[in-house]
Amino acid sequence: MKVLGIETSCDETAAAVVEDGRTILSNVVASQVDLHARYGGVVPEVASRKHLESILPVIDTALNEAGCRLSDIGAVATTMGPGLSGALLVGVNVAKAIVFAYRLPLVAVSHLEAHIYANWLRTEGTDAYEPQFPLLALVVSGGHTELVLMKGHGLYRELGRTRDDAAGEAFDKVARLLGLGFPGGPAIEKAAAGARPAVRLPRAWLPGTHDFSFSGLKTAVLRLSKEREGRALPVGEVAAAFQEAVVDVLVTKTVRAAREERAREIILAGGVAANKALRNALTDASPVPVRMPPLFLCTDNAAMVAAGGYYRLQRGETAGLDLDVMAGLGLTPSSTPLPAP
Ligand code: KG4
Ligand code: ZN
Repeated sequence: MKVLGIETSCDETAAAVVEDGRTILSNVVASQVDLHARYGGVVPEVASRKHLESILPVIDTALNEAGCRLSDIGAVATTMGPGLSGALLVGVNVAKAIVFAYRLPLVAVSHLEAHIYANWLRTEGTDAYEPQFPLLALVVSGGHTELVLMKGHGLYRELGRTRDDAAGEAFDKVARLLGLGFPGGPAIEKAAAGARPAVRLPRAWLPGTHDFSFSGLKTAVLRLSKEREGRALPVGEVAAAFQEAVVDVLVTKTVRAAREERAREIILAGGVAANKALRNALTDASPVPVRMPPLFLCTDNAAMVAAGGYYRLQRGETAGLDLDVMAGLGLTPSSTPLPAP
């Protein structure tokens, strides 16, 4: 079955056609990053207006590239949250219009769940891959840092999350501090490449929990960059120290949780999963196989929404035309929560 995925939760207008939840027939992403870069971050009102302009051409392109029409589509999956309400409303309402006109099932997907399902999409070299449950998912994006135990499709238990800044948010804020531009993740990664960490920055371990905290690290970078004004400390060395600290905490805590929960696999997801230092360190430290999407499926896209939507549809979890957006949605509003051990 072909699922049309739609994603407008932040600053990417995206549509994709995915066959049987795994095979990408098309994956179109119109990024607004240049539009927001001059403000140093995403401006919600600007994002909504741009989504309105882009969404229909993006869907048309996705259908054309997949070689199909709306009449060939079996269901529409759309991100209902978390994200910017005005931005989410664009995708959700276009999805409603399509399912109403073509009498199709509508599936609502959490953006976090969609990031996890990017790992089910077939790409070169991963054709035969079927994730093994129970698995531990580390979701690291601009808005979230979550450790999630997944015991089956749609069966999640949240083990830990950030208590303040998300990992991606920390990258973005520190990049701004260092004058490296927006989005910060790729800018920090580039600046840090080949540089020796200037100092060892503090790590917040939050013992006895699987939670994270990155705001102290941001303050430490601020202090370090002030000191820098006096001594010529290259930006790259500060960026490298910051990246090293974030990766160390993410990897150490993920591996510890995987051991404790006897996870059979670790999967990495979300925009920060594009970071090569994180990808390499997690692969090296993990006692179990580590799966991660290729870079283009780590950052926001609609193929992952179609994939997550397909598995929801398999379980009969469809939405009605009264579907609303939820800016603060968690992993899923409707799947069965697992009882605590
Ligand atoms: O998943 P995503 O595209 O959007 C959200 O759902 O938030 O993630 C965006 C975040 C941004 O904070 C961005 O700086 C970060 O992912 N990011 C990276 C890298 N590429 C994107 N962080 C570290 N290293 C990267 N290479
Ligand atoms: Zn995202």
